Amino acid sequence: MPLARAPLVVKLFGEHAVVYGYHALAAALNLKVEVKVEPSSSREYVIESALGVERLRDIRADSPRHRYIVQSLRVVSSDILGRDIEPVKITVNSPVPPSCGLATSAAVTAATLAALLKYLNIKVDRAYLAELSHKVEVLVQGRASPMDTYTSVMGGLVLIYPRGGEISRLSLTPRVDLSLVLVQRVKTTKDLVAHVYAMYTRYREIVEKIFELIDEICLKSLNALTKLNIDELGMLMYVNHNLLSALGVSNHYVDSLISYFRQSGVLGAKMSGAGDGGTIVILGKISEDLERKAREILRDRYLAYISSVCIDYSGIEIAR
Ligand code: PMV
Repeated sequence: MPLARAPLVVKLFGEHAVVYGYHALAAALNLKVEVKVEPSSSREYVIESALGVERLRDIRADSPRHRYIVQSLRVVSSDILGRDIEPVKITVNSPVPPSCGLATSAAVTAATLAALLKYLNIKVDRAYLAELSHKVEVLVQGRASPMDTYTSVMGGLVLIYPRGGEISRLSLTPRVDLSLVLVQRVKTTKDLVAHVYAMYTRYREIVEKIFELIDEICLKSLNALTKLNIDELGMLMYVNHNLLSALGVSNHYVDSLISYFRQSGVLGAKMSGAGDGGTIVILGKISEDLERKAREILRDRYLAYISSVCIDYSGIEIAR
């Protein structure tokens, strides 16, 4: 049965500033979401994931739990087949919970589309797959940057510069060892983006300066990655984090933990994604003592610690 595996994505630098046209750098991770497609044994579309099992008679029906998957079924039907796809069973396996700032929706979308196309014996190139995945995200969310879907499909390090209309997979392939702390999020990406917009309209000159600094950090990180200058990379992560905190998108749990890491000599750490928890990305590993401290500081917001994560350069993988 066709199976597609799409990498999760971490934002290394530039979140929020990217919404205003500045540079951001994302990395695909060797943590992959798996989507399997097989014929349905009934006349219903069946979707099975950590969010539960859903059965639909019609792909136009509302699906509050699996909106990206149902939208993928609709897009394949309208853009590729020109008729509704026959009922299928779709099974999703993810190494992390949804909404933790690791682009699970982008990875699920890309893997669903790739597995569906393989099931239908239709070949498309990666650029088109990235485009279709972005289309699904826009249809579900109303607005979405192509960064997450593009990075999940292509793999590697992706630099985006919306002001210049540029998105590119870098030829850099540094081996960087990362760890992640997953933190329960309360506010949504939409809330946090709206908060930054309110700051921007009220304190435009200040917020623009913060964005310019984030942009400079993002570009400097390319140099640090090329030279594998880990100390500099770590310093840039801490400074980017503090600028995000200045924008008010972090929270005291995450700020306390990151400043504790910095004082304890951890090479680098920052929040990743929209904020208020989600993912903390750490350069290298942390000791068991520091992991205990993380649980203590984050309390009931602590979800998981994942070590030995590295950048994935293979992108989406499809198998039968
Ligand atoms: O937390 P996430 O994975 O939804 O990331 C949001 C990143 C932002 O820069 C805040 C918004 C965006 O569309 O780029």
